[in-house]
Amino acid sequence: MQKLKGKKAVITGANSGIGLATAKLFIKEGAEVIITGRNATSVEKAVEELGSNAHGIVSDAGKMDNLLTLQKEVRDIFPSIDIVFANAGIAVFKPFELIDESTYDQTMNINTKGVFFTLQQLTPLLKEGGSVVLNATILVHSGFASASVYAASKGAVLSLAKSLAVELADKNIRVNSISPGPISTPIYDKMGMDQEAIEAFANDLQQKIPLRRFGGADEVAKAALFLSSDESSFVTGSEITVAEARILISK
Ligand SMILES: NC(=O)c1ccc[n+]([C@@H]2O[C@H](COP(=O)([O-])OP(=O)(O)OC[C@H]3O[C@@H](n4cnc5c(N)ncnc54)[C@H](OP(=O)(O)O)[C@@H]3O)[C@@H](O)[C@H]2O)c1
Repeated sequence: MQKLKGKKAVITGANSGIGLATAKLFIKEGAEVIITGRNATSVEKAVEELGSNAHGIVSDAGKMDNLLTLQKEVRDIFPSIDIVFANAGIAVFKPFELIDESTYDQTMNINTKGVFFTLQQLTPLLKEGGSVVLNATILVHSGFASASVYAASKGAVLSLAKSLAVELADKNIRVNSISPGPISTPIYDKMGMDQEAIEAFANDLQQKIPLRRFGGADEVAKAALFLSSDESSFVTGSEITVAEARILISK
């Protein structure tokens, strides 16, 4: 039996990586899905790949004017929704002293402010019994060199999930987070590092988590499915770490 039969879901930042893998799984499990992304061509390509149960909205999570029209744009496709997966995000890994104001603002605008106002726009469309899932990172729980602004931006996301779990409980809406460990997605190619630096970074990161490998986007999608489906009907205000790393050992 399909776990999301008849459900309507919105997944932000789903033209690639974890968002795209989650959209594929949700559709396989019977949902109709709206994906968002900031690039029209990438969104169009992903919708084509996902098939007729997918719709695309071009919306930049780092731009307030885009965020403020999101509710209307979603309502034009689905009058109400069951699931929001606030997944859109960027990762910047740089030594603390090299984080300038523009990098700080861009990271916080997309990863923190973007999630905040995405949810402010979309939670009014959620039906009773709906589910919200936020995408954070395991790096929130452990010091990791060069992750200062990224981890801080995601720490706020985890905190937001706790507050919203309480505020939305009256409508029987559950709010939970996923904190992935290192997952093989295009995010590493977008960090502005050369291939050698990416490989060194990736090797270091995976040696610091118990399973000592990169996960697949589909492995995070399965956690998102659990938290979005009735299988987690009494789970709210919680966090699933997809590859634990509160036990980071060294720099
Ligand atoms: N991969 C990991 O190891 C890992 C670990 C922990 C947490 N995460 C989190 O997981 C989430 C998904 O990342 P991913 O690894 O799947 O990377 P990804 O493949 O780069 O996916 C990120 C998605 O978010 C979109 N996005 C970025 N900025 C956006 C904006 N301003 N407005 C709208 N969409 C935007 C990207 O679009 P573009 O294609 O236009 O960039 C892309 O579709 C992120 O929040 C990330 O922080 C990832």
